[in-house]
Amino acid sequence: MIGTGRSLRIESLAGHDVPAAAALLAASMRDNPLHRRVFGHDDARLQPLLAGAFEALLRLRRDDGRVLVARNGAGIVGVVAMAPPGRCQPGLRFRLHMLGLLARHGALGVAPRIARWLAVWKRNEPKIPHWHLGPAAVERSRQGQGVGTQLMTAVCAELDRVGGAGYLETDKEANVRLYARGGFRVIAQREVLGIHNWFMLRPPPARPPERA
Ligand SMILES: CC(C)(COP(=O)(O)OP(=O)(O)OC[C@H]1O[C@@H](n2cnc3c(N)ncnc32)[C@H](O)[C@@H]1OP(=O)(O)O)[C@@H](O)C(=O)NCCC(=O)NCCS
Repeated sequence: MIGTGRSLRIESLAGHDVPAAAALLAASMRDNPLHRRVFGHDDARLQPLLAGAFEALLRLRRDDGRVLVARNGAGIVGVVAMAPPGRCQPGLRFRLHMLGLLARHGALGVAPRIARWLAVWKRNEPKIPHWHLGPAAVERSRQGQGVGTQLMTAVCAELDRVGGAGYLETDKEANVRLYARGGFRVIAQREVLGIHNWFMLRPPPARPPERA
């Protein structure tokens, strides 16, 4: 267990919980502005597509980075993934898997928009080694109750422990305040497919990382 607080536990995501965590991310992030711009407003079509994409991404991040979840008695109520330095951009196998997923959902037509989106994100990545956060979300009915703050505190503790910088993109201004409270600072703002995006960096801690 990584942390506790107000009947929540912060833990690493277990393999058998990947589908539940992916479903939570899909339900909570389906109306983020970029998702709406790319995929439209048909939730019945969008949610399974997003869940499939997040499931693959969470499996990747369990292997090469970290995935933290907040749990209460009933199950997972929040999720955040972290890619380690140098692994922000998924490899060819993952990209082909995503194209297959889009094709199965009859959404191959959005691939050029996704490519434009990811190209802007890639161009704005900081040059220093960093842990790349995302996706991150809290179950819809639990938002605004401190779950995201607890996950963010655990993420920042992990960044301090490994002595790493943290980096993220967000398409919602409300999220900027949450991340700023964790020590992230806006380093750039850009339009992505006409949607305003904030790019935020948390510098590495001044002291050296703890030994494992
Ligand atoms: C962003 C998110 C993870 C924050 O988790 P949370 O548990 O709601 O946040 P907390 O209750 O710990 O903290 C509240 C802060 O989160 C931010 N916030 C963002 N979206 C929010 C929402 N829907 N409800 C409440 N707070 C929200 C605000 O900064 C808020 O601070 P404020 O009270 O000063 O306005 C969560 O609201 C969420 O899943 N949103 C939808 C998906 C999303 O945008 N994911 C992040 C992509 S970068």
